Amino acid sequence: MPVPDTLDQLFIPRHVAIIMDGNGRWAKRQHKPRLYGHKVGVDSVQEIVECATEWGIEVLTLYAFSTENWKRPADEVGGLMGLLKNYLQKELSRMVKNDIRLTCIGDIENLPTDVLEVLRNTMQETRDNRKLTLNLALSYGGRAELIRAVKNIINKVDSGRLQIDEIDERLIDSQLYTAGLPDPDLLIRTGGEARLSNFLLWQASYAEIYFTDIMWPEFRQAAFTRAIIEYQGRERRFGKTSAQIKSG
Ligand code: FPP
Repeated sequence: MPVPDTLDQLFIPRHVAIIMDGNGRWAKRQHKPRLYGHKVGVDSVQEIVECATEWGIEVLTLYAFSTENWKRPADEVGGLMGLLKNYLQKELSRMVKNDIRLTCIGDIENLPTDVLEVLRNTMQETRDNRKLTLNLALSYGGRAELIRAVKNIINKVDSGRLQIDEIDERLIDSQLYTAGLPDPDLLIRTGGEARLSNFLLWQASYAEIYFTDIMWPEFRQAAFTRAIIEYQGRERRFGKTSAQIKSG
């Protein structure tokens, strides 16, 4: 999947984060069980990962399972865990071949042990890969991530390893699950809702946000291209004026 002609190759976002929403509704519309939507959603994951790798995106963060998703019916949670495990097992050789590093963010200790084992193995086997970082948000919540960071920081202060004056944005970055990754440039949400749903609350401060009505199982190369075209047409000012940006 070469970079489409419609995209400016010199202005590809470094980090794209995606809220993959709409699987259940998409399945319902075709009178199928919700899990069918998640299954076809995995095909979208494969296609989008392939695009990201070929187009030169450095980091792709996918919101695969939120802290709130544990409240879903047990069979849906179990089904999602099974899909995740299968995906990781099936894709390992392709990740190795295509130079993809798998990382994750979230409270992964909550995952079933068999899934956790496959996840750890995939991360280990791909840790030296450099082309794309595929970062899965699993049992992830932005507020829980911030609480964890605050606790770590207070521990450091209490034990004398850190002075309060040393607390700045970089220090907070370093205590998040995403430490070491650039902030997302583009955050996409499929499925027609326009909210962040506890995703990357700190990291997405300056991200361009793109909402689309397309349901995740139908979000493929053409839709991804359109999202990046829209991103490339926006001016990122980071609080400055347009003239300041243009004068470099
Ligand atoms: C939201 O759709 C989607 C999820 C909660 C799970 C996303 C998971 C996958 C696409 C498959 C597994 C992931 C990987 C990385 C292999 P929804 O069910 O909330 O949709 P709805 O709003 O229509 O109900």
